[in-house]
Amino acid sequence: MSNFLTRNLNYDRPVKVADDVYWVGFADPQRGLHCNPYLIVDNDTGILIDGGSRPEFSTVMMKIMQTGLAPDAVSTLIYQHYDPDLCGSIANLEDIIARPDLRVISKRENNVFIRYYGVRAKLECIDDLGRKLVLDSGRTLRFIPTPYAHAAGSFMTFDEKTGILFTSDLLGSFEAEKDRGLFKELSAECLCCERAALARQGQPCDGGVAKCPVPDILRFHREEMSSNRALRLACKQILALKPSLVAPQHGSVWHRPSDIEYLVRQLVALNDVGIDGIADTP
Ligand SMILES: [Fe+2]
Ligand SMILES: [Fe+2]
Repeated sequence: MSNFLTRNLNYDRPVKVADDVYWVGFADPQRGLHCNPYLIVDNDTGILIDGGSRPEFSTVMMKIMQTGLAPDAVSTLIYQHYDPDLCGSIANLEDIIARPDLRVISKRENNVFIRYYGVRAKLECIDDLGRKLVLDSGRTLRFIPTPYAHAAGSFMTFDEKTGILFTSDLLGSFEAEKDRGLFKELSAECLCCERAALARQGQPCDGGVAKCPVPDILRFHREEMSSNRALRLACKQILALKPSLVAPQHGSVWHRPSDIEYLVRQLVALNDVGIDGIADTP
């Protein structure tokens, strides 16, 4: 068992995902969702990815400050699509960061809607940045579009230094509060479980010894992604990047390449995602 699982986690504080990468998220028990904004600290400067909802603004900001960063040390906000669970607090963040040079980066298709959150900064598009951002230290974040998975302008962010892939909704989950675990590993039973095929067909899979996280992940993608094709295209990109760790905006962080590959292959095998799971006469 890796030290990811044996650490004593306090979800009321920022949680280290890597040396200079922190989870600064929150749980939404009402919706059954865990939301995962992440903070990269580079040369004492913060880059916040998918910064969170309006109601949880103070929770996220407190956790950012608990890492030792002052609000005005955050230089960049990255939004990997435009939903309120990640963009809702954008105007509050702008207010407290109070930097005229604050950068807000997303993609053109998202920026049309992000504007309506009351953002004042100029919204930058990853396409105009050559789909990468070079930080002060020289560290490069690469942006990888995943069109219609689930929004037209959805993209992922790959941190070349750590090999972390921030996937936004991809590899997210509707995991229940009682099953909370920011870091997870699939058990040997899950990795060879024939019931995964049942879970792909939408049937229950209780996964033997421990609660299997796979059905909640599959259900999330069936309901939140737009189509089989969009999800498969995104999965192809994840496999090609060979990330060392996957950090989604919901559910758990996955740090074992074998788990990541297994989960992505389960998603590729889905045939009823979004519109493809709906009969011609609903
Ligand atoms: Fe979303
Ligand atoms: Fe989301």
